[in-house]
Amino acid sequence: MADKIALIYASKSGRNEKVAQYLGKQFQQLDQPVEIAEMMTFPVEKLADFAGVVVVSYTYYEGQLPDEAVAFFDDLETTDLRGKYYALAGSSSIQHRYFGRALDLFDQKLAYLGAQRATAVLKINLDSDRADLARLDAFCQQVVDFAHNKD
Ligand SMILES: Cc1cc2nc3c(=O)[nH]c(=O)nc-3n(C[C@H](O)[C@H](O)[C@H](O)COP(=O)(O)O)c2cc1C
Repeated sequence: MADKIALIYASKSGRNEKVAQYLGKQFQQLDQPVEIAEMMTFPVEKLADFAGVVVVSYTYYEGQLPDEAVAFFDDLETTDLRGKYYALAGSSSIQHRYFGRALDLFDQKLAYLGAQRATAVLKINLDSDRADLARLDAFCQQVVDFAHNKD
């Protein structure tokens, strides 16, 4: 479907998988078609079938991408993202110096490749609390609004 979102996540201990599943449910409630996939197994060229991509990722190794995200991140260079939109959310930890930096790396890369960011980057500290879930609700609404007003 042309207006579908690819919701791609990387998760080691499960928090970001939960974030992705929560977002998936919220998008469905907003009648936004969405397909959820793990980053490790999602071929970047499939992004051609989607209007937008939501990346959900943790951060590892002093502010680096998780291992599961490296191939996807590198392969982004090989695809045409102009005209597509993106959004970024994820759980990481404020105990680390570079809080949620993997999302910032994706932000720079996706913008550089010509995609448009639909809403602000949403960083969650460890497990999502009620305030985080409210922020995730707003995040979904903002992405859907952006998608509708884009063209
Ligand atoms: C060895 C290690 C290094 C980490 N490094 C960072 C980091 O540099 N920045 C950050 O924000 N979080 C860091 N984290 C925290 C994780 O991103 C956080 O635990 C996250 O919620 C894990 O997500 P997951 O449950 O989806 O795997 C690190 C965690 C571990 C275990």
